[in-house]
Amino acid sequence: MKGRTMMSLRRTKIVAAGAGAALLLAGLSACSSTQSGSTTTASGSTTAAAGGLIGIAMPTKSLQRWNNDGSHLDELLKAAGYTTSLQYADNKVDQQITQLQNMINLNAKVLVIASIDGTALGPVLAQAKAKKIAVIAYDRLINGTADVDYYATFDNYKVGQLQGQYIETTLGLKDGKGPFNLEPFAGSPDDNNAKLFFAGAWDVLKPYVDSGKLVVPSGKAPASNADWTKIGIQGWKSDTAQSEMDNRLNSFYQGTKKVQVVLSPNDSLALGIEQSLESHAYKPGGDWPLVTGQDADQANVKNMLADKQAMTVWKDTRTLAEQVAKMVDEIIQGKTVDVNDTKTYDNGKGIVPTFQLPPQVVLKADVQKALVDSGFYKASDLGL
Ligand code: GAL
Repeated sequence: MKGRTMMSLRRTKIVAAGAGAALLLAGLSACSSTQSGSTTTASGSTTAAAGGLIGIAMPTKSLQRWNNDGSHLDELLKAAGYTTSLQYADNKVDQQITQLQNMINLNAKVLVIASIDGTALGPVLAQAKAKKIAVIAYDRLINGTADVDYYATFDNYKVGQLQGQYIETTLGLKDGKGPFNLEPFAGSPDDNNAKLFFAGAWDVLKPYVDSGKLVVPSGKAPASNADWTKIGIQGWKSDTAQSEMDNRLNSFYQGTKKVQVVLSPNDSLALGIEQSLESHAYKPGGDWPLVTGQDADQANVKNMLADKQAMTVWKDTRTLAEQVAKMVDEIIQGKTVDVNDTKTYDNGKGIVPTFQLPPQVVLKADVQKALVDSGFYKASDLGL
């Protein structure tokens, strides 16, 4: 919203979806192929439910967490009486923009968007604003446009900080231990979260790099938080991270030199890095390095149980979906939208009112209680 200040956290007036939407919905559901998503009500019909249409735009099906986010939010909104259009864009920015335009044409009341490129949605969100459609940025901040009404996420800086602190504590860096060989990685350069994950971790670790207690044999140690994109992995791709780790091990770790700690910002990168370590004959429980992660992806939790990953930062996506479903309802009912942070997230056009949730560290010893007893996984999912 233009000229947003912290005081003017206005609610957005919603234009009720016209009857025409029902007809258009029928058309969309016919054409919304299974590849990208679906448009349905709780009963499975394609006629807009009383609550109206809510657009859910997720980046890709290829990373586990987004499937969890999308399906859970979809179920919650349908149960609340809304029609949903849940679309996945295969990490293609243009596809996501087209999907958003379709949702706008169908007179969606609210758009919930986990953006692929947080800087690319200004023009399409201007179209949403023109139709008084509210926009919630989901998990990833959308930058460079005032047409974002709310943001819902986990504390992204804290995610990185937990990774950095885990390394600091486990290696005994505070007690003067070291030097250790570190290889740092960062997430996708088009993802605002990746900048925050890296800053949280690097604010803890860089002093040890400066003092020589952490050594980066590849030389890929960003000189500052702002330099993080130099070690960014586009699209969070596991195979790109694996190739990068292969290159570093082949080029800078000859003879008996071993990498001892890897800062991986999330589990999809960690998975590729772990495959590279395996192919370079590192042994779990032996010379295998400390590897960090995020998201508690199934393959990575299994790797934690096999001593191939030391930790993951778990973000219970069920709680994020529940929070967003509540925010959608508050917007539609014209109520004040519940936020708990009106200071942190400036998207270049003003502070975006935010609800942020706490992430938590999960170690091998925590898996049963944190991930199985909570119902996030079944024991059989993890080979337990
Ligand atoms: C981030 C998200 C993380 C991470 C990555 C890849 O924006 O917050 O959970 O997994 O994308 O999806």
